[in-house]
Amino acid sequence: MSEPFIPHSRPALGEAEAKAVAEVVRGGWIAEGRQVAAFERAVAKVTGQAQGVAVSSGTAALYLALMSLGIGSDDEVVIPSYVCTALWHAVRLTGAKPVLVDIEPTTYQPSPQAVARALTRHTKAVIVPHMFGLPADIGTLKSHGIPVIEDCAQTMGVPVRGTPVGGSGEMAICSFYATKLLTAGEGGMVLGREESLVSRVRTLRQYDQQDALDPAFNYKMTDMQAALGLCQVARLEGFLTRRRAIAARYHEAVRQAGLTPPVVPAGLEHGYFRYVVRLSNPVDSALDLARTLGIGCRRPVYRPIHRYMDLSSFPETDAAWERALSIPLYPALTDHEVDRVVSALQAILAG
Ligand SMILES: Cc1ncc(COP(=O)(O)O)c(C=O)c1O
Repeated sequence: MSEPFIPHSRPALGEAEAKAVAEVVRGGWIAEGRQVAAFERAVAKVTGQAQGVAVSSGTAALYLALMSLGIGSDDEVVIPSYVCTALWHAVRLTGAKPVLVDIEPTTYQPSPQAVARALTRHTKAVIVPHMFGLPADIGTLKSHGIPVIEDCAQTMGVPVRGTPVGGSGEMAICSFYATKLLTAGEGGMVLGREESLVSRVRTLRQYDQQDALDPAFNYKMTDMQAALGLCQVARLEGFLTRRRAIAARYHEAVRQAGLTPPVVPAGLEHGYFRYVVRLSNPVDSALDLARTLGIGCRRPVYRPIHRYMDLSSFPETDAAWERALSIPLYPALTDHEVDRVVSALQAILAG
């Protein structure tokens, strides 16, 4: 009998999470309340920012962070092309223009040179996703004097030369989607240290009991989600340790095949949200082979944003899209499943 399919991602949920959510339900206060407030404090600590505002998704968090900075039509926001389309949608929703940039070939982070070239007098922010678990170089990007929003949807709890990832930009955002480093089912958070920005996000996340009929919406998180998220924050260190142990197994297989494991620049640590292997050939046949071996592999970015728009001149993004393969790496993998992924990886790299 063949073994069960190993999905590309799966959350690590246990009795603690089930109990925490059940307690909230039994307590009767299920909408935004004390659990949300505690979750905001816990995530602020993880990211090294002063305050957090919990919202309904990472995309909502991006949009509200941009709105709090006063960004609107006539403004430009620099984002990489090699990222999920959430960034593009959040910028467009403010009325501003997303300006796409290429990436660094080995770290998959926005190229600092490309960002510098993309800046104009209309640029009001740069969104920097810390891709796949590896912190990006925020210092260089901040040197332009334009607000940097750190997108920590894929990288949390990883120290950057002694300080937590997420704590260097004007603002940071997180996502708590089911397959993220820590989950609340869905959800997101805006983090910052400047009181005026944070309080603007708090006002914008809900419409009730406002003195004026200014544009408003409902972006709130529930206490059930926050209770689940709090359990996950408590497990984050353990999750990262397990991710690194699994990555070490994959490094061996990659080296044996004569390829290079994911690059970690000197002095940095990787959280391995994704394990991305750069293949010598286009990834399509590897994806097919993995499927027949019962392993869910993916392109780490479904489709770069510029490819939806028929734009060219993003050579490193195109190369990554063609050759980068993401294999399953998450704490809920059993040792036996890790062995099966290693075997599949060896077969893919030999093919
Ligand atoms: C880098 C990045 N930013 C933002 C988001 C959006 O988060 P959400 O799905 O919670 O809206 C994602 C989601 O995959 C992401 O990977």
